[in-house]
Amino acid sequence: MRILVVGGGGREHALCWAISASPLCTKLFCAPGNAGIAQVAECIDVGAEDIPGQVALAQRLNIDFVVIGPDAPLVAGMADGFAAAGLKVFGPSKAAARLEGSKSFTKAICKENNIPTSASENFTDVAKAEAYIRSQGAPIVVKADGLAAGKGVIVAETVDQAIEAVRDMLSGNRFGAAGASVVIEEFMQGEEASFFALCDGKHVLPMVGAQDHKRAFDGDKGPNTGGMGAYSPTPIFDAAMQKRTMDEIVLPTVRAMAKAGTPFKGVLYVGVMIDSKGPRLVEFNCRFGDPETQVLVMRLKSDLLPALIACADGGLNHLDLRWSEQVALTVILATKGYPDSYPRGSEIRGLDKAAKVEGVEIFHAGTKADGSRILANGGRVLNVTAMAPTVEEARAQAYKAVDLIDWPEGFCRRDIAWRAVGRKP
Ligand code: GLY
Repeated sequence: MRILVVGGGGREHALCWAISASPLCTKLFCAPGNAGIAQVAECIDVGAEDIPGQVALAQRLNIDFVVIGPDAPLVAGMADGFAAAGLKVFGPSKAAARLEGSKSFTKAICKENNIPTSASENFTDVAKAEAYIRSQGAPIVVKADGLAAGKGVIVAETVDQAIEAVRDMLSGNRFGAAGASVVIEEFMQGEEASFFALCDGKHVLPMVGAQDHKRAFDGDKGPNTGGMGAYSPTPIFDAAMQKRTMDEIVLPTVRAMAKAGTPFKGVLYVGVMIDSKGPRLVEFNCRFGDPETQVLVMRLKSDLLPALIACADGGLNHLDLRWSEQVALTVILATKGYPDSYPRGSEIRGLDKAAKVEGVEIFHAGTKADGSRILANGGRVLNVTAMAPTVEEARAQAYKAVDLIDWPEGFCRRDIAWRAVGRKP
């Protein structure tokens, strides 16, 4: 099969790495890709959000199957665009991608189907939102209803901060149309995990859980980012927690979407908050996690491609996925300044040496090639990923490789998997 992967980040490198190993894949393309993806796929410079451009590219390349990586094109209807052109695609329709694209839509699904989540209300009116915040007190969470490039969630420590966030969002100044409506919700205590389930609209094939590190700096300090590191498995998300998440959150959602005539086909990313009472939904995403995918593909022993195809074709109930018991862990190297502004174009050296560390794979997130040189071309730049029998060993191998990379303009967290290291089962 001729496969096209849409996107150009670390998640897409990990997907291309797994797909290129499939005996079903005869030729792999990625658009736009990056310098690392170019080692396993032919990269073509078409933007990940350019729906007509990507559809025309797939037609020109005679593609048999398209895998859409990022959220923004899915929420904008890219899967529908491919389907309308007669192309087979992995990723939900625009209607189904509302599970990520509209927080109020997901909250309504939760209310209608008794899915455990935080208490919340939606507002488009500042005065009503303010009155609600005052009645609830702080801490309290304010979310832009739509997609806001991962920045639309404000955890307000005080009532005044929450009101300021609401004013900012509803005025349209901060997130444009994505903030024209807000969801205000209860602050949930607990430990967060990410879980992934493949869906064909009717059947669900559970994958595994992982834990991300959203803050920029060690000790979970600093601003929120797209994710500074991940590992899998994670002790908090054991088999019992996975079963409860499937039964209480995933299956009712997939059934509700099918009943509404908008079946969810693709991967459902379930962000859960876990406390002594069990899992509660924090958010759904309609695509693979980044950087969680980088650790998932390392642990996956089965061929990923037939499972992705079954999401589009149906029949996921006939498939099974096998996972390594080992621990995979990824450390993100980002350009200094990220998640705010940062320069591009600094040179990264030492990658070949780092990639030779036992159990290590280096996925590229924001890089570009300049002849034989590799240059930083984004905020999150490299995902140094290791797999080993224990979390301690995986972490040691990942940081051993990180330390062989010569890139003074970059930084990383030094405490990835701190919740798991030394923790007894
Ligand atoms: N790891 C966070 C995300 O993919 O949204």
